Amino acid sequence: MARLDVTEVFHGISFPGHLHTQESLEHALKFQFQDTDILIVSYPKSGTTWIQEIVTLISNRGDSHLSQTVPNWTRAPWLEQYYFTAVLEASSTTPRLITTHLPHHLLGPALQGTKAKVIYVSRNPKDVVVSYYHFHKMANFLPKVDTFAEFLKGFLEGTLHFGSWFDHIKGWTSPTAAIDNLLHITYEEMSLDLPGSIKRMSSFLQCPLVEDEVINCVKHCSFSSMRDNKMINYTLVSEDIMDHSKGSFMRKGEVGDWKHTFTEEQNQYFESIFTSKMQGCTLEFVWEK
Ligand code: A3P
Repeated sequence: MARLDVTEVFHGISFPGHLHTQESLEHALKFQFQDTDILIVSYPKSGTTWIQEIVTLISNRGDSHLSQTVPNWTRAPWLEQYYFTAVLEASSTTPRLITTHLPHHLLGPALQGTKAKVIYVSRNPKDVVVSYYHFHKMANFLPKVDTFAEFLKGFLEGTLHFGSWFDHIKGWTSPTAAIDNLLHITYEEMSLDLPGSIKRMSSFLQCPLVEDEVINCVKHCSFSSMRDNKMINYTLVSEDIMDHSKGSFMRKGEVGDWKHTFTEEQNQYFESIFTSKMQGCTLEFVWEK
């Protein structure tokens, strides 16, 4: 069987080449956004799938029919995957819901001048790196991982697939990013106040909901509902892409889970790099429940 964990280096950043080829990545950078588009942007493991589910539910006023019958990669296709962008371009549905992990310095130019709505979701990076480490164990399209210590080093040095977490968050949230319609929401905010986060997103999307509709959205995008929904928990993808005997996509869904993995020494190493790389950045992070 052909190896799935081939690496595509594009503009100096590693991508999973089995899913994202040079051609598909080039194509993504030239994508013609429409003013009605909704774009979900994230660094991997920051709550992307959660936002895909929430936006689907908001657009359907809390009705879960679509989220229970259509896989999330069809509802909210990946921009960096050629097959999906071709489908998007041929589609006459509005609004189009699109997902990407691309950094701002690569995708920003394509968004200039559009009124497309961008939802940027971030998560505290200690939980991101732990979640990403576990995901590497089950996702056969990502490089094999060794120890968590090695993986953490790669994360802090920005050599993992999809590049540097620091560049990603600073790029998309910078005041100079010049995106007209951007909502920055965090994983922790959703975790602490899901109804409030849903209301914030629905008002940004100009799709205000009545209280019962919010309650239905909350019910269907809770961790347990999503864990049991085949359309979102990736059990529909073939075993050679994601090996569910090695872990679950919907793994724990907790704030502060990093504490079960980081050693004291790793935490100090993390803090020193974080402090220097985030200097001048005013974003605040929630590290535990
Ligand atoms: P964990 O591995 O920490 O459990 P992404 O979609 O960006 O790949 O992020 C996946 C992470 O989001 C996983 O984190 C997953 O469990 C978590 N997640 C997805 N839906 C969630 C939900 N409804 N509530 C809490 N966490 C959720």
